[in-house]
Amino acid sequence: MTVKQVRVALVGAGNIGRAFLQLMLDKAELLRQRHGFEMTLVGLADRSGAALDPAGLRPADILSLKAAGRGAAALPAHGQPGMPPDELVRRCGADLLLEASPTNIVDGQPGLRTIETALGLKMHVVSANKGPLVLAYPHLMALARQQGVALKHSAAVAGSCPTVNIGQRDLLGCQVARLEGIFNMTTNTILCRMAEKGLSFDVALAQAQAEGIAEADPTLDIDGWDAANKLVILANSVLGLPVTLADVEVEGIRGVRIEALQRAQAEGSAIKLLATAAQAGDGYKLAVRPTTIPLTHPLARLTADQMGIIYYTDVQGTIAAVAGQQGVLTTAGAMLRDVVAICG
Ligand SMILES: NC(=O)c1ccc[n+]([C@@H]2O[C@H](COP(=O)([O-])OP(=O)(O)OC[C@H]3O[C@@H](n4cnc5c(N)ncnc54)[C@H](OP(=O)(O)O)[C@@H]3O)[C@@H](O)[C@H]2O)c1
Repeated sequence: MTVKQVRVALVGAGNIGRAFLQLMLDKAELLRQRHGFEMTLVGLADRSGAALDPAGLRPADILSLKAAGRGAAALPAHGQPGMPPDELVRRCGADLLLEASPTNIVDGQPGLRTIETALGLKMHVVSANKGPLVLAYPHLMALARQQGVALKHSAAVAGSCPTVNIGQRDLLGCQVARLEGIFNMTTNTILCRMAEKGLSFDVALAQAQAEGIAEADPTLDIDGWDAANKLVILANSVLGLPVTLADVEVEGIRGVRIEALQRAQAEGSAIKLLATAAQAGDGYKLAVRPTTIPLTHPLARLTADQMGIIYYTDVQGTIAAVAGQQGVLTTAGAMLRDVVAICG
């Protein structure tokens, strides 16, 4: 069997980027044997700048460098201090860009410019970064189509949970009447703990922050915007709706009281932060809000570390997926499955 060589560039070597580099090492044999390709890392960017080598950077060297608290620019012989990611993309000659820089939903940068540059150069793109997708999905997809390359993002909507893949692959030919999802683990953890342990919102949030589950600034999660971002990406990529955040009614969980959670429990229900897209007339109504659902609902039983989705369709009926133990490995794994789908 001929083994195809795939040159990749990685932007972002944080939690997800580093987990991806580890997977490049751990899965090299499986990719070669089962899928017939090998990845060569020809470029990497972080906040320090970039590192470039057409012959291939060693993922293990990058992992050691980052573990020592240093940046790509410090890589001996290959470091390029201050080189921005779009310049790296122009210079590295990759076949595929892996985008794992921070999500920025104000202007999408630096991810948006980086992805546009890569698509412009006919590079495939795999993105875990939600910002560019939320802000410019139709534009980026049209560009990818025009350039004859793939733009995949299954890691950007609930990590390993196959929210996008089920919608794009398994529901072909269906009309989706409604989708519902629990897409944010921080809020799910807080609501689960409030219900199970009788904690107030403030105490449950402080606990989640102390454990590193919630960010120091939890606004995006708590106020529903992270879930809304993911709903916008699904609405664009699965339902074909060119919607933005402005089209989503968003309410977070700050107003959820223990009493309401306990009352729901006593009545055989649960309160979850539900993201929904529901067919209404010619279009869909999109919302993220705390919602009471019966315990018989597939998403009502999700534990603190799970996320899930349910599609209600005309032909395939109801299809649900739940994924647990979400973390950096599963998200990097979702990027890897996108790479295999493109290159394998
Ligand atoms: N963490 C998760 O579980 C998860 C799940 C799904 C999706 N995602 C998405 O995946 C992406 C990465 O998440 P993460 O947790 O790995 O974030 P992270 O740990 O904060 O890492 C971000 C990386 O991007 C680099 N970076 C920041 N600004 C940059 C710039 N201007 N130019 C070039 N590089 C820059 C950082 O450089 P330094 O290393 O120099 O700081 C770092 O390597 C985000 O978009 C996130 O929303 C994350």
